[in-house]
Amino acid sequence: MTTTYLITGANRGIGLEMSRQILQSGDRLYAVCRNPETASELNNLVHGSNGHGQIFKSDACDEVSLANIADKIVGGIDVVVCNAGVMSARGGLNDAANNAASVATVLMTNTAGPFFTARAFYKNLKLSSAPRICIISSYMGSQQHQGASAYFYRASKAGANNIMVTLANELKADGITVTSFHPGWVKTEMGGSGADITVEESASGLIQQFQALKISKTGTFLNYDGKSLPL
Ligand SMILES: NC(=O)c1ccc[n+]([C@@H]2O[C@H](COP(=O)([O-])OP(=O)(O)OC[C@H]3O[C@@H](n4cnc5c(N)ncnc54)[C@H](OP(=O)(O)O)[C@@H]3O)[C@@H](O)[C@H]2O)c1
Repeated sequence: MTTTYLITGANRGIGLEMSRQILQSGDRLYAVCRNPETASELNNLVHGSNGHGQIFKSDACDEVSLANIADKIVGGIDVVVCNAGVMSARGGLNDAANNAASVATVLMTNTAGPFFTARAFYKNLKLSSAPRICIISSYMGSQQHQGASAYFYRASKAGANNIMVTLANELKADGITVTSFHPGWVKTEMGGSGADITVEESASGLIQQFQALKISKTGTFLNYDGKSLPL
C-alpha cells in the first residue's frame, strides 16, 4: 500500500535523502522547503517521480504558510516528518555565538517548528488510517547525554522531545502516533564529514522505523535503527 509523507527541510541533508528514497519506493511525497527555486536536487527528484512528488515553499516556523499548504493538499497524509532543523553555537558558556538572535532561531526552528507543523497538518493526518508524526530530534537533547557544550541546540532538542510527549498525550485519542527520532551522527552539512554514518544509512533506517511505527510506540524516543533512547 502506498504511504503519503510530508517532510520539512526536504531540500538537503537527511530530508533530501529521505525524499529520494520515498520517491524511489513509489510512495507519495509532499516536500516542504524554504527556497524551492534554488532546490535543484529536490526539483530533479520530484520531476522524475511520475507525479508522486510535489514541492511547497515554507519556513518551518511560518504558521500561515504551513496552514496554506495544508489547505492545498487534497486528502490525507500518513506520515508528517518534522525534519527541518538548525545547529546554533557549538561551544560552551563563553561562546559569543550564544546571542539572543541565534538562541531565538534555534528554539523557534527546532522546538516550535515541530509544533507548528503538527498543528498545520493535523487535519490531513486525521484522514489517514495510520497517522504518524515523526520528529527528527537528536540524542544531544537527551537528559542522559553527557555533553558540556552546544547549550541551545541541546535545549531545543530536549524541548522538541517534550513537545513530542505532549502531542502524543493529546493526539492519542485521535489514534495519531507521535514519536521522536535520533537520526544518528550523519555526514551532512550539520553533522560534518567526520560523522559516523552516511545520509543513505540514516534515511533508510528512519524510513523503516516510520513504516513500522505503531501507536504502542507513541510518546517514545527512538534511534534510527529502532533502539529505544532515554528522553
Ligand atoms: N546530521 C546529524 O548528525 C544530526 C544529528 C542529530 C540530529 N540531526 C537533526 O536532523 C535534522 C536534519 O539535519 P541535517 O543533518 O540534514 O541538517 P542540514 O544538512 O543542515 O539540513 C537542514 C535542513 O533544515 C532546513 N531548515 C533549517 N531551518 C529551517 C527553517 N526555519 N524552516 C525550514 N527549513 C529549515 C534547511 O533548509 P535551508 O537549506 O533552507 O537552510 C535544510 O533543509 C535536523 O533536525 C537536525 O537537527 C542531525
